Amino acid sequence: MGESITITDNRTGESIEIPIVDGGIDAGAWSSLLPGIWFDDPSFSATSGASSSITYLDGGAGLLRYRGYPIEQLAGTAGFMEVAYLVVFGELPTRDQLDAWCDEIAEAAPIHENFHKRILEGFRDDAHAMGVLIAGIAAMSTFWPDGKDVEDTTCRRTQMVRLIAKMPTLAASAYRRSVGTPYVQPDHGLDYTGNFLSMMFGQREGGYEVDPVLRDALDLLFVLHADHEQNCSTTAARIVGSSHADPYVTLASAAAALYGPRHGGANEAVVRMLEGISSYDQVDDFITGVKAGDHKLMGFGHRVYKNYDPRARILKDVAHKVFAVTGTNPLLDMALKLEEVALADDYFISRSLYPNVDFYSGLIYQSMGFPIEMFTVLFAIGRTPGWLAHWDELMAQGSRIARPRQVYTGHAQRDVPSIDQR
Ligand code: SDX
Repeated sequence: MGESITITDNRTGESIEIPIVDGGIDAGAWSSLLPGIWFDDPSFSATSGASSSITYLDGGAGLLRYRGYPIEQLAGTAGFMEVAYLVVFGELPTRDQLDAWCDEIAEAAPIHENFHKRILEGFRDDAHAMGVLIAGIAAMSTFWPDGKDVEDTTCRRTQMVRLIAKMPTLAASAYRRSVGTPYVQPDHGLDYTGNFLSMMFGQREGGYEVDPVLRDALDLLFVLHADHEQNCSTTAARIVGSSHADPYVTLASAAAALYGPRHGGANEAVVRMLEGISSYDQVDDFITGVKAGDHKLMGFGHRVYKNYDPRARILKDVAHKVFAVTGTNPLLDMALKLEEVALADDYFISRSLYPNVDFYSGLIYQSMGFPIEMFTVLFAIGRTPGWLAHWDELMAQGSRIARPRQVYTGHAQRDVPSIDQR
């Protein structure tokens, strides 16, 4: 017998041998043996909903590769625009391809003036930037109805360029609106990440002095967030995209999933958690509360990594470079203390709970001057190429609409009583 399993239905004695291919077992085979019986896995911990060639994770070994390239090699050598090209198109660009790609993205960076006047200005002053971003991404669907031609590869490419290009512009505009400063248009003379910093913190008339250390650190953070296989928000994108909805509402659904504190919202939750532990001597009490189930240690744990998240390891180094410019974030020592106590405690060790990408990223963002409501927005900018790559892959695979089955636990059929009999 080769690489295969055999399933036997003990009610009938019937068996079926199913090959193991690429680490997977085709559902079509066993469902023919077990009509009406479903493998129940509500959070997809042990089931695959996709075949993908974009990113490879090995949770036990703490490995992360984009299109086969280890994250440790990409981080610090390839810029975010190179990695976005790699994630979306499958290969690292040549210098000419990179130059053309950066120009194409820069050309598409501006957003329509109506976005500012009629959409962004419609929000409350204290609206959370993620709520504005999610609505803004969905609103793009109304500006580019041609994006609905999702089965056309050229059309898909046009929308992918627009979304990668406009995400920073929309994000920066959401921030400028919240602090009441005039919008700053994209500056074609700056690179992608420098331009974002200019739109965030620059004056209206431009001329923003990009700090190279901060720009490089943010660019690296975008690289680390570019993709991560079938995480919650990417799965949301694949589910919504499978209905052939346009890429704008598809990405809005992904950003909505990212907003949750169990996912991309964790970087904001970590800083709020650290701010809540106002002094060193409260760390032990806090950890006691975690072990009692009163609260989670935000920024710790991962469905796949049962080892140190390789991105968290890289982020610790980035943090020191940023803090050398901005001054150390006072919450860093608290974070390091929490990590030290947790990694020595059997509660965390026995559950394979280690720092994930969100444990340090918020501290870095905060030290760079980003307000806490922008942290998950920054995650979304970095993840946009990954969401789009998975959407494009799904369309190219000609996959069917996602429609899971269920295990029904409700009433058997019963008759409707008249209201007087209820
Ligand atoms: C991201 O999927 C991805 O790839 C995501 C991501 C990406 O790049 O897209 O990597 C980005 O979302 C990282 C995760 C950010 N979230 C957080 O930091 C929030 C805190 N972490 C937890 O909520 C949790 O660890 C999750 C959501 C990340 C994972 O949840 P799982 O896999 O469903 O794990 P679980 O809840 O079943 O936990 C198993 C055990 C439980 O204890 P017991 O019931 O066995 O006693 O571990 C405990 C949990 O209570 N546990 C924690 C904990 N995480 C898990 N206990 C305290 N603090 C935590 N953070």
